[in-house]
Amino acid sequence: MASLKEEVLSRRTFAIISHPDAGKTTMTEKLLLFGGAIRDAGTVKGKKTGKFATSDWMEIEKQRGISVTSSVMQFHYDGYHVNILDTPGHEDFSEDTYRTLMAVDSAVMIVDAAKGIEAQTKKLFQVCKMRGIPIFTFINKLDRQAKPPLELLAELEEVLGIESYPMNWPIGMGKEFFGIYDRFNKRVEQFRADKEEDRFLPLNEKGELAVDHEIKKSSLYDQTLEETMLLEEAGNEFSEERIAAGELTPVFFGSALTNFGVQTFLETYLQFAPSPQARQSDQGEVDPASEQFSGFIFKIQANMNPAHRDRIAFFRICSGRFERGMSVTLTRTGKSSKLSQSTQFLADDRSTVNEAISGDIIGLYDTGNYQIGDTLVGGKPSFQYEKLPQFAPELFVKVSAKNVMKQKSFHKGIEQLVQEGAIQLYKTLHTENYILGAVGQLQFEVFVHRMKGEYNSEVVMEPMGSKVARWIENEEAVKESLSNSRSLLVKDRHGKLVFLFENEFALRWFQDKNEQIKLYHPMEQEEAR
Ligand code: G4P
Repeated sequence: MASLKEEVLSRRTFAIISHPDAGKTTMTEKLLLFGGAIRDAGTVKGKKTGKFATSDWMEIEKQRGISVTSSVMQFHYDGYHVNILDTPGHEDFSEDTYRTLMAVDSAVMIVDAAKGIEAQTKKLFQVCKMRGIPIFTFINKLDRQAKPPLELLAELEEVLGIESYPMNWPIGMGKEFFGIYDRFNKRVEQFRADKEEDRFLPLNEKGELAVDHEIKKSSLYDQTLEETMLLEEAGNEFSEERIAAGELTPVFFGSALTNFGVQTFLETYLQFAPSPQARQSDQGEVDPASEQFSGFIFKIQANMNPAHRDRIAFFRICSGRFERGMSVTLTRTGKSSKLSQSTQFLADDRSTVNEAISGDIIGLYDTGNYQIGDTLVGGKPSFQYEKLPQFAPELFVKVSAKNVMKQKSFHKGIEQLVQEGAIQLYKTLHTENYILGAVGQLQFEVFVHRMKGEYNSEVVMEPMGSKVARWIENEEAVKESLSNSRSLLVKDRHGKLVFLFENEFALRWFQDKNEQIKLYHPMEQEEAR
């Protein structure tokens, strides 16, 4: 039997970050096919909320149900145990999406070659950068007309501020896509090879095709040689250390839909992506191969069946070995319990998990005991993993109970749903009116439906639109008279003061006028630490 250390070394846990429609689902499907975790393409499909009317609760339920099973997928390839964590996009983009990135050891960034870096990719990238995890880039849809590859590289550097090392380079694109010139494996991989044996063509020591082939006759081949020469001379050097530190992203070109370049990508990814790394706790670093079981909860999701109130807590194992029925302590409360109801996530099914180790994600049934960021530890000593960062919501609504006689269920519902972490709660000063903040609009709709369905509380929502939230380092410098509709002063659920600015302009204006007040964005503070 493999030792714990060997098993940890074989784990790769990552999330795909991309903008909707860049090809995340298609890519996931191809990776699962390689791993033999699914048999047919199409299994992961159908989870796109974008295709549903967002106000249709049944559809949301259905979607959420499916997304529980497809939010963590495991497959095996070449001796590796790979965990892919889904980062919901479309309307279900939420704080959960960000928090999922806290539970992975690396990220795969998919870029649509015709569109370049898009808004959601940029937001998710910032979270990965903050954590300093390695990011592998797959530039997708080369079978279509795309932006010139050099322009795409420049965009990576300018928009995201990360240096890149192209592992391969396209030869043409769209209708004239011949394949990729693989700098790393020293070969050309043909897009349309007549026979499987001809898929890879070798290069000679000068870096040119070593065999006679009609690709050589194309001016696109000459262009690729010129551009790769340029990359050799003026591009970044390959550095495993810089990839590991998240400073350099290896870039791969391909087409997920036609399954081109995906396997080449996967094999190189597995070679350079990190296995689970040591994590910080309040008692120092915890080695993933240490025997003591530990980990943290990064997401809580309500059961898809509203008749059952239980929830599933997504738990990232950070050390040791999980065994069903084992005793653990919840560090926050000091209470012990047995982990007997657990589930592992597979692509097309949920199954009971009996054993899992560092790097794996398990689902724990929760009857309301857990909170996001909770640490569970097996045995002694107990410790707490670092707090998960708070992410600034972008959309806000005022919320109140429709029936003033039903305040109790209203408060209970809000408290529990806020604990799940998809929405944040703020209160106005003195009047203590409730304001909810979320990263994505769908969270509000889910909130309204669940308040009614699970807490029998009808709510009135008054949209406030998007706001720029900033916390305050030196609260003593803030006077209440600074609060107005353009810079509304509220308290978060921990009692901290927060300004909600009407827009970026109002924020800058405020800062110019009130230089003594030190504002911060929660993620910027994380970065500075
Ligand atoms: P997402 O999860 O990132 O949102 O993207 P998804 O994989 O669903 O892909 C979005 C669309 O882009 C899909 O087309 C998909 O077939 C297409 N696509 C993905 N990879 C490639 C590629 O390499 N080349 C080309 N040409 N297209 C690609 P759709 O028409 O929106 O969806 P569907 O009707 O095929 O389901």
